[in-house]
Amino acid sequence: MIDVNAIRNDFPLLQQKIYNRQLVYFDNAATTQKPQTVIDTTNEYYQKYNSNIHRGVHSLSEKMTESYENARRTVKSFINAQHQHEIIFTSGTTEAVNLVAFSFGEKFIKKDDEIILSQLEHHSNIVPWQLMCERTGAKIKVIPATYTGDLDLSAYERLFSEKTKIVSVNHVSNSLGTINDIEKIIQIAHCHNVPVFIDGAQGIHHQPVDVQKLDCDFYAFSGHKIYGPTGIGVLYGKEKWLNEMPPYKGGGDMIKTVTFEKTTYNDLPFKFEAGTTNFIGAIGLSAAIKYIEKIGRQNIFEYEDMLLKYATEKIKTIPDIRIYGTSENKISVISFLVGKIHHFDTGMMLDKMDIAVRTGNHCTQPIMKFYGIEGTVRASLSFYNTTSEIDYLVESLLKIKQLFA
Ligand code: ALA
Repeated sequence: MIDVNAIRNDFPLLQQKIYNRQLVYFDNAATTQKPQTVIDTTNEYYQKYNSNIHRGVHSLSEKMTESYENARRTVKSFINAQHQHEIIFTSGTTEAVNLVAFSFGEKFIKKDDEIILSQLEHHSNIVPWQLMCERTGAKIKVIPATYTGDLDLSAYERLFSEKTKIVSVNHVSNSLGTINDIEKIIQIAHCHNVPVFIDGAQGIHHQPVDVQKLDCDFYAFSGHKIYGPTGIGVLYGKEKWLNEMPPYKGGGDMIKTVTFEKTTYNDLPFKFEAGTTNFIGAIGLSAAIKYIEKIGRQNIFEYEDMLLKYATEKIKTIPDIRIYGTSENKISVISFLVGKIHHFDTGMMLDKMDIAVRTGNHCTQPIMKFYGIEGTVRASLSFYNTTSEIDYLVESLLKIKQLFA
C-alpha cells in the first residue's frame, strides 16, 4: 500500500505554490520530480567525492569509479540483465536510440533493407532511424494503430519480409498511455529472426521490466522520467549485438590503444561510453531506483492504476470531453480535448489554477495526424498524485469550459 502523504513529503518541489494554491503536478510523462534522497545523493557526491572515473589512482577517483560501477550494478538488477557490461550509460533514451540506429545500422543494414516502427512512436524513435535510412538507403515500415490507440498486431505480422532487419517500438505510448504488448511484438519478430529495440522511456517506471524474460535485444530509458537526474539514461543491449556493433562516438575511455594508424576499442560497456560520462548522474539514478524499490514497484503500479481509473471516470463526466487513447492496457496518462477549446488555452488556464499539464503534440505528430488533431491536453499521473488533485482538475476544467462557453 502507498502512503501518499508520506511519499509527498519526500518531494520538496511538490510543497510549493505557483500562484495561489499548492502545485498540482500532472506532467510526469515529461519529467518526474525528484525525491530528497536523489537530491541529497547528488549533492553529496559533488561536495565530497567529485573526481573523474576510470582515470586516476587517487582515492577520490577510485571511490567515484567504484560508485559509478555500483550504479551500473543497480541498473543491471533493476531490469534483470544477464551481464553488467550490457548496461551502457547514455544521456537519455534519445541518445540510446541514436546509438543503436547508427551503430546497428552501420553494421547490419544496407540499401533496400527494411525496419519496422509503429504509429505510436515518439519523434525520438522515428528520426534517428530516418537518418540511418538516409545513410543506408533502407526503408521504414509502420505498424498501424487502431482508434483506441492499440497497435494492430495482425498488420504487424504482415510487415515482415526477408529484408526486415530490426523492429523498434515503444513499451508505452507517451501521448496516449497505451501499454504495448511487447512480449508478443518481440516473439513475432524473433520468429523472423529479427531483433527488437524497446523504447522504455514511459514504460520502465509503470511496468515491471525483466529484459531476460522479455528477451528484448535492446531496452532504453531515461533517468529523469524515473525520479532520477536529467542527462543520464540507460541502454541495455544483448552482449552478442553490442560486441558486433561499431562504436557510436569516439573519445577517451572507449579505446584500448591509439596510434595515428589504428585504434583498438575498449571492451563493453566502455566501448560505447566515450568521453567523461555523467557519472554523478548515474549515481543519482541509482538512488532513484533504490527509492522506487523501497516503495515497491507493485505498490506503485496498483496505486497508479487506481488513479488512472478514478481520473478517467471523473474526466468522462465533463460534457464534450474527448479522450484520446482508450486502450484497456494503459498507464496513468490521459490525453484529452474539451469541446472546441484549444489545448494551449486549456493548458494556460490550468496553469493559472496551479495545475501543470502538457499540451501540444507530445513529439508524436504521426499519431496526432491519425486522429486528425494538432495536439491534446495531457495529464500524466504519478504515485505522488492524489484523488483530490484529480477532483480539483475536473472542477477546474468545468470552470474553463464555462468561461469559454
Ligand atoms: N517525451 C516527453 C513527453 O512525453 C518529453 O512529454
